[in-house]
Amino acid sequence: MPDITFRHPERRDHTVYAVAGSHLEPILKIARRNNIPINFDCQDGQCGNCLVRVTSLHPHGWKAGPLTEREQHVLLELGKISRADIERMAVDDLPTQWRLACQMIVRDEDLLVEYEVA
Ligand code: FES
Repeated sequence: MPDITFRHPERRDHTVYAVAGSHLEPILKIARRNNIPINFDCQDGQCGNCLVRVTSLHPHGWKAGPLTEREQHVLLELGKISRADIERMAVDDLPTQWRLACQMIVRDEDLLVEYEVA
């Protein structure tokens, strides 16, 4: 299972080892279990408060799943992605770095998750 490093501009990096079964959990749930203070509200992909920037540290690039429809809608509203980005993601099958922590499910890849970077 992967290591997830949480980074905040004013705090030390905090790396957690995602335990078995966490591949079914969103980043926000893993963060909360490890006392990482990522902002959140709805936990349902609607408010955008849990915006994070995610970088894959996997040597062969992204294994992350695609953005959910809710993520696409909210990230468009926040101006973090464009319609062209959505079209490109559909072709390339590569997500953007901007994600909603309550929606992105961790897969078997090491990640850097930056929060409060908006
Ligand atoms: S907590 Fe509202 S979108 Fe994630």
